[in-house]
Order: sequence, then C-alpha cells, then structure tokens
Amino acid sequence: MRSAVALLFGLSATVWALNNGLVRTPPMGWMSWTKFYCETDCVKHPFGCIDENLYMAQADCMEKDGYLAAGYEYVHIDDCWMARERDASGRLFANKTRFPHGIKALSKYMHNKGLKLGIYEDYGTKTCGGYPGSLGHLKIDADTFADWDVDFLKLDGCWVDTDKMPQGYADMGKALNASGRAIVYSCSWPAYLIDQPRKQDYKLISQHCNLWRNFDDISMSFKSILSIINYYDHNQDRQIPYNGPGHWFDPDMIIGGNTEITYNQAKVQMTIWSIWSAPLIMSNDLRTVDEVSKAILQNPEVIAIDQDPLGIMGRLVANTTDIGVYVKPVTPRDTAKNLTSFAVAIFNRSNKKQSVSIQLSQLGLKNEDGYDVRDLWAHGDEGRLRPMDSFQVKLNPTAVYFVKCSLPDL
Ligand SMILES: *[C@@H]1O[C@H](CO)[C@@H](O)[C@H](O)[C@H]1NC(C)=O
Ligand SMILES: *[C@@H]1O[C@H](CO)[C@@H](O)[C@H](O)[C@H]1NC(C)=O
Ligand SMILES: *[C@@H]1O[C@H](CO)[C@@H](O)[C@H](O)[C@H]1NC(C)=O
Ligand SMILES: *[C@@H]1O[C@H](CO)[C@@H](O)[C@H](O)[C@H]1NC(C)=O
Ligand SMILES: *[C@@H]1O[C@H](CO)[C@@H](O)[C@H](O)[C@H]1NC(C)=O
Repeated sequence: MRSAVALLFGLSATVWALNNGLVRTPPMGWMSWTKFYCETDCVKHPFGCIDENLYMAQADCMEKDGYLAAGYEYVHIDDCWMARERDASGRLFANKTRFPHGIKALSKYMHNKGLKLGIYEDYGTKTCGGYPGSLGHLKIDADTFADWDVDFLKLDGCWVDTDKMPQGYADMGKALNASGRAIVYSCSWPAYLIDQPRKQDYKLISQHCNLWRNFDDISMSFKSILSIINYYDHNQDRQIPYNGPGHWFDPDMIIGGNTEITYNQAKVQMTIWSIWSAPLIMSNDLRTVDEVSKAILQNPEVIAIDQDPLGIMGRLVANTTDIGVYVKPVTPRDTAKNLTSFAVAIFNRSNKKQSVSIQLSQLGLKNEDGYDVRDLWAHGDEGRLRPMDSFQVKLNPTAVYFVKCSLPDL
C-alpha cells in the first residue's frame, strides 16, 4: 500500500446523546422510497403504488422469507401517504383511497407479525412531495403518531429554512417524548447542510435524534453508493465520535435486491454499511428479490458486524487509486488488556483485478497472540494470523474482502 495508515480509533469518546433507550443497535428494516418513490397512481401500478397493500405485501415477505428472523424489523412508510389536507381538528390522516383502513390498522398488522411500523413526515410547511408538513403542528402530529401506535418517525427537511432546524428538530423530539410512546426519531437535518458543513453540529444532533440522514439520497446505482462512500470517507474524523448505541449516522437505504446493481456491488454496500454500524434499511421489492440477493441481504455474519454491540463507526485506514481498507473494532474484547477484535474490509473500487498484501500490524492489529480470521462472505475460517503476517487477497473487479479477526481464546 502506498498511502499511510491513518491513526486508529479513540474508542468511544464519551458523548452525551439522546437516551430514550431505543435502537441500541442500528435499526434494520424496509422502506418504500428508493424503489417506489411517490407513485400514487394505483390504477396504472396496482402492485407498485404507495398504498396499504404495498406495506402489507412487503411485511408478508419479511416474515415468510426470513428477513425478520435475520433482524429486519421496521416497515417504513415514506412520503406521499397522506391526504392533501389536515382534517377539521387539524390532524393528519392517510389518503382514504389508498389506505382505507388507516395507519393504526397498518401498525396492528405489523405488530401481529412481530414487525414495527415507521412513518414519514417533514419538519417544514410541506413534505418534499407536497403533502402537509409539521411546521406549527409538532405536538398534534407527535400525538397522532403515538395514537396510531407508530414505532419510528423519519422527519424530512424540505420547505423550511435550515436555520430553524436546530430548534425545530429538538422540539419534535420533545413532542415525541411527551407523547409517552417509544418512537425512534430519525432526523434528515444534516442532509440539508451538506454545503454548510460547519452547521452540521453532530453533537447537538446526537442529543436530539436516534439517527440522522446525512448526505444525498441514494439512487438506484452503484455510482450513487460510491459517492456516499466517498463523502463518508472524507468526513470520517468529524463523524466517528458521534456514532454509537442509540445515535447513528444514516447513509441511506440498502439497494441490494434490485437489478440495477450486481451481486458484488450489493456485497460492497452491505460491507461498508456494516463497517460503519449504519442502519440497514432495504429499498427493493421483496416479492421479486432473487435467492442470491436474499442471501447477501441476510448474511448473518455480515449483519453481526453491523449489529456489533460496541456500535463503533469503522474507519478508512488506507486508500489508493484502486483499493480502500477499512477497520472497525468489534466484540469480543479483552477489557483488562485493552484489546478488541476487528472487522477488516478490503474494497477494490477499480475495474481491474487486484492482488493486495497488507500486514496486520499496519492496520493496527497488534495483539501478539494474533487473531482467528474468518471470511464473512465465503463463510470460511482462514486460521490464525499474527501482527507480522499479511492478508494476501486477490480481488475480482469491484469486489470486497471482508473478514472478522477475533481475539483468540475468548
Ligand atoms: C388519494 O390518492 C389518489 C391517487 O391515488 C388521489 O387521486 C386522491 O385525490 C387522493 N385523495 C386525497 C383526499 O388526497
Ligand atoms: C423521555 O425522555 C426520558 C429522559 O431522557 C426517558 O427516560 C424516557 O424514556 C423518554 N420517554 C419516551 C416515551 O421516549
Ligand atoms: C481514496 O482514493 C480515491 C481514488 O484515488 C479518491 O477518489 C478518494 O478521494 C480517496 N479518499 C480519501 C478519503 O482520501
Ligand atoms: C486502549 O487502546 C486504544 C487504542 O489502541 C488507545 O487509544 C487507548 O489509549 C488505550 N486505553 C488504555 C487505557 O490504555
Ligand atoms: C478491482 O475492480 C476493478 C474494476 O471493477 C477490476 O478491473 C480489477 O481487476 C479489480 N481488482 C482486483 C484486485 O480484483
């Protein structure tokens, strides 16, 4: 590797953050947006429009196809679920043609399966799709969502001055808390401040939100995945201290299971999102996801890295034109000796085959007794490697090598 290895981790800088007891590991689920956007024409698209049938059908797949068992728990409604106006008492309500049974019936449907329901609103005057926003209605909306037994709120940030966000997002957090229902709170706040990084006050954001969308919305392409990775890589030093149990950066939805990306590209996304301890919220059509993609999305060893209880956001430690190397401390650890296990990802982003050789000690893996190495995509043990040993990797185009290096005898 040509480039220098950056310094490793300050393990958990102590940060005062929102403590509502929720999402101690990154939330996992399914969300409609990147696959179905704001399609409201159910005549033309009876199986692909924003209506209650869509969410029930995806929930059915989550239960019967193993996603729920793999950890995917939330079914997230995104924009365009509402009627165009509030009712006479100022409450939001769902479009009655597309949600004839209402949102409360939908949460019941989810809860009966052991799933949870997420909903979408916007802090501004309107949602991004032009539906009624929460500005001036925070309390009644929080109480409405609680009354509907909703478990998660994604609060977008269209149609409002970004200077109002610090107060506004905090106020909605307080309104949710006052509703008395445990509702995970996702803020789109910093995603609206990409051009004003100094206003991305992650300390403040982590005090009010359980997770926050950060950077552009994902679209259905590997190019989009790469642009998100690049943004997070360049901003990792100011992000890493504020990621942890109950307060997560959200680099946006997992798009594996869609035909717009290859299997290898889907593995790259799952790997890097797991390195970051990012939410794993899929956007695809679970009715049509093929078996190979399903195995990628449900890989238990990869999900275990994402869900590792330390909740540390891993770091890019070496970078060349073709290769990025990421390291994330994970359990098991030996607190007496101040040692952790690690997940290591070597990602080939060029379009040539690459042979890579990297010494463990260069990546900060310095336990003299070594590490038991396991390949998380090939599901194979690679034996014990010591700090002076090297990972010897041959990577196919745009492929990724992802291992867990466990402290031995723990
Ligand atoms: C409900 O959605 C349909 C489109 O599916 C639209 O035609 C109708 O106007 C909407 N109703 C309300 C009250 O917004
Ligand atoms: C409200 O906030 C308090 C203090 O952080 C917390 O203990 C409690 O669990 C929260 N309640 C809800 C419903 O989120
Ligand atoms: C890593 O290398 C790639 C390719 O040269 C480059 O585009 C990217 O900006 C680099 N990332 C960082 C964080 O330096
Ligand atoms: C534990 O290890 C980390 C990472 O190597 C280091 O930054 C930290 O200072 C160590 N803590 C103690 C108490 O030695
Ligand atoms: C990395 O990916 C590129 C492009 O996808 C490919 O051409 C190249 O051979 C790959 N490198 C390795 C080591 O496999």
